[in-house]
Amino acid sequence: MDKTKWPAISGLVAGTVLLARNVPTTYAFDKPIHTGIIILASCAAAVIGLSRSLPKEGGRSHRGQQYDALPLGVQQYDALPLGEVGQPHGSRESSPSPEDVRYPSSLRKLRILFLVLVVAICLRIEAFRQVLANTQCAGQSWESLIPLALALWDYFAVQRHKKRILTDDVDSSVYDALVDHVFRPRYRYVLAAGLVSIGSMLALATSSSPASTYICAASLHNSLYVPNLQRMGTVLDFLIAYCIGHLLHQHEGRGTRSVSLRFISVGWAFLFSAVILLVIGIVYYIIVEEDRKWILALPTICTVLTIFHIGAMSTSVMATFVSVSTITTAYAWNNPHPFPPMDTGLAFITLCIAITGFAAYFHMETVSEDRESGGRSITFREVPSWLYLLLLSLFFLRTGLWAARKTTVTYHPIDMLIYEAQTQHEAYINQTSTSKTLADAVGTYKARYNRVPPPGFDHWYEYATARNSVVIDDYNSIHRDLLPFYALSAEDIRQRTWDMISNPWNDVAGISVRSGEVGISPNVMPTHRWMLDGLVDLIGHFVEYLPDMDLAFNLNDECRVAVPSVQIETMRTTGRGAFAHDRAPRNEFSTGRGEQWQLVPDQPNTETPLKELSFQRTFYDFGSVGCPSGSPARSQRAFLANWSTAADICHQPDLANLHGLYISPAAFKGAHDLYPVFSQSKAHGFNDILYPSAWNYIGKAKYDPGDEHPDVPFAEKNSSLFWRGATSEGVSPGGGQWRGMTRQRFVHLANNINGSEHPQAVLLPQGEHSLAYTQLPISELTNLLSTDVHVVDSIARCGGRDCPQQAREFAPLVPPTDFQDHWKYKYLLDLDGAGFSGRFLPFLYSHSLPFKAALFREWWDDRVTPWQHFVPLDIRGQGLWATLAYFAGLDGKANGRHVKAAAHELEGERIAERGRDWAKRVLRREDMEIYFFRLLLEWGRLTDDERDDIGFAVDVG
Ligand SMILES: *[C@@H]1O[C@H](CO)[C@@H](O)[C@H](O)[C@H]1NC(C)=O
Ligand SMILES: *[C@@H]1O[C@H](CO)[C@@H](O)[C@H](O)[C@H]1NC(C)=O
Ligand SMILES: *[C@@H]1O[C@H](CO)[C@@H](O)[C@H](O)[C@H]1NC(C)=O
Repeated sequence: MDKTKWPAISGLVAGTVLLARNVPTTYAFDKPIHTGIIILASCAAAVIGLSRSLPKEGGRSHRGQQYDALPLGVQQYDALPLGEVGQPHGSRESSPSPEDVRYPSSLRKLRILFLVLVVAICLRIEAFRQVLANTQCAGQSWESLIPLALALWDYFAVQRHKKRILTDDVDSSVYDALVDHVFRPRYRYVLAAGLVSIGSMLALATSSSPASTYICAASLHNSLYVPNLQRMGTVLDFLIAYCIGHLLHQHEGRGTRSVSLRFISVGWAFLFSAVILLVIGIVYYIIVEEDRKWILALPTICTVLTIFHIGAMSTSVMATFVSVSTITTAYAWNNPHPFPPMDTGLAFITLCIAITGFAAYFHMETVSEDRESGGRSITFREVPSWLYLLLLSLFFLRTGLWAARKTTVTYHPIDMLIYEAQTQHEAYINQTSTSKTLADAVGTYKARYNRVPPPGFDHWYEYATARNSVVIDDYNSIHRDLLPFYALSAEDIRQRTWDMISNPWNDVAGISVRSGEVGISPNVMPTHRWMLDGLVDLIGHFVEYLPDMDLAFNLNDECRVAVPSVQIETMRTTGRGAFAHDRAPRNEFSTGRGEQWQLVPDQPNTETPLKELSFQRTFYDFGSVGCPSGSPARSQRAFLANWSTAADICHQPDLANLHGLYISPAAFKGAHDLYPVFSQSKAHGFNDILYPSAWNYIGKAKYDPGDEHPDVPFAEKNSSLFWRGATSEGVSPGGGQWRGMTRQRFVHLANNINGSEHPQAVLLPQGEHSLAYTQLPISELTNLLSTDVHVVDSIARCGGRDCPQQAREFAPLVPPTDFQDHWKYKYLLDLDGAGFSGRFLPFLYSHSLPFKAALFREWWDDRVTPWQHFVPLDIRGQGLWATLAYFAGLDGKANGRHVKAAAHELEGERIAERGRDWAKRVLRREDMEIYFFRLLLEWGRLTDDERDDIGFAVDVG
């Protein structure tokens, strides 16, 4: 049996390291009950299997004899029938011995231990599930206190008792007694384990990432309940460790099969727990296979083995130390930058305490008398020098990390972002209108997109130049959207368009172009009439140049088409190759196109290719299917530096719980095949075709200041951050879904709601020329900075208890304001709704500065540069306060001292004005027409049977 000792300990250490590194990314915790069942069942199988393969006479090892004299009284377990654990002794008892009669209470004790273990495991997993479901309310973990608790237990239950035996046994001299008191105090383990525990706990506290903005609702009392649940979980963990330890050791050295029996009882406990959870689980949950569970199973099995070898206390000391040093070291390694703020000195010192405790613990073990007596074996007979070396290396590594970490910055990161945005914008302008003639434009088109422009390109060019379009060459977004469609035949596209628009349930409306006229297909819901009328108006400006065709327009706000990553990549590759030939094209669309489109029946079609997921989670089914496998699950949580990666959910799987579209959309009817659907906006990974929204074109929300609502110069505006809106991002039907939605999170974050929000980091000057991040509670920030961010009217799109709870949480709800009221404020917050925010363009036209947090991207995304024309915010919201503090400045008392940070009003005004000027040049109604015109010419070609042979070519010279 001894030969499993080192593999088990190594397995425990390796497993703990893996676990500590993988916890944030593993999917295993999405369904903790399922994972728990699978792990327990596999551990049970492994432990029972292991026990079968053990040498039958293992119990009679050299150690075995040492314990013969101990009054543990568990011999009868040698023959305890497995299936009857917890029941009165059955008739299978083969060789009753006199001891059976003498120690009935110990047997009962073991049965109780067994039952307690089963119950504790089940409760533990349920507690874990509940804490996970409310992690946003979780507090400091107490897990690291387990070694201390076990040591205290050991002190009261074993050490004091043992001391007495020793003194009784040994004919001790005064000198011996002195040695005992100086070098082997009975509380020595308490001392060492205490150092490990306390050091670990403090070290963990210094290594926490910025808290999620997922709402820990003040009105739900979870902020008290969840930390208590965590503490209960720690107590249960202690119980589990204690029970496993006792089950494994109480039977020491009795009879031939005792070693395997010890394991079998633990294995059965796991199996029982798994069965109990499974029964509960079948009632409440649908079992789904989870991956990566092995990561959890490995440490569990090794833990059991290790407990067998070195006892529960040493195992917990080892596991705690290894996991905490892994977590904190990895954290220090990954965060060499001043953000997130972290007390590196404290982190270093506390880890040193833990290292000291750890070394002391194992050293004391070797000089202890446990070798000769006591209920457990020790880890090392002599602490090996490599362990000291290892600890020393850890110490030097941490010293290095501590010394290398910078805690201050010399310039504000936003200064740099604004500077870089300028360059980026310049680069955009440099390439967007290099063409001065039609021939230039054709040449640039060919060079960019590896094909000739569509027929009618000359009309488009004339249309665009007549309206002074700044953007002539850069229509990459059209190219990106349409590229995969080249993998479908024109006939397929026509059929798929019909599939969409022939069934009104799809919420997709048809617009048809016939002989230079634009019309609306039958079966359109009257509520969306404005949108189609707007589109008819918009397309009407250039419809005479368009070929006959039908178009399918998404009537919902949510995007629709998400093709799995592998498929879409293949289609894009096909698309890229489609036009590589040099044949001279024909500058006209083919004839007879009108008849090729199937008529939309007056009697609606009832078949649909769409899958409905309204009110349900869409992230894994639709949100992330477009991500390549193995996307890094990494997220950036400081000031938003890269607007493109900020929308890329493949890198940020945590957004699954942070946006209404993914949590519970109001209307979601989506397809996994490439259907041609025109949408106003889309999230990353969707394949809808973007077009300029009629909402902005016809001015449903309009920039229209007047005498009553003037748009005064920036400097004269009120310095508040302003937002008004409804809770309409998604539906919260009663499951608390609202706590993750962007709008609700930002309202929560901007207001001090019963102090339930985590502190936020802001940059404050430190010394003469540097800045440092400081955590300030929101209650202080709301005094220093002015925000006016509220939900209007009444809670929308909710059901059951979510309505009153939100109303309580977001009280006071305010009456709606006139849209033109916005121009009073310097800073305008812009948040997604169920789809894109229709207010952003008016915000951009104004003298105010928009702060935009968005998952959805629109047709203009390439034209507008964040930090040059508007202020981007991370959708998680972490940067909100620090960004506002940069522009508005801080001056007042916080955390008991005076804080002062200069305002950057001038920078704010510049961005506001640049955004306004640029919007007037590239986001006019005319620009929407020009974009749409070009998009529909491309679409006309794409739906043409002879698309490889048609196109626009000029005779140069
Ligand atoms: C844009 O073009 C101008 C003039 O040709 C040049 O000076 C500038 O460096 C270019 N900017 C970028 C970012 O390429
Ligand atoms: C943002 O990230 C993408 C992808 O990594 C990169 O291509 C792009 O250049 C970055 N943009 C900026 C402004 O850094
Ligand atoms: C600015 O707006 C805030 C929020 O609406 C308001 O409380 C404050 O009184 C206003 N300040 C001034 C100077 O009007």
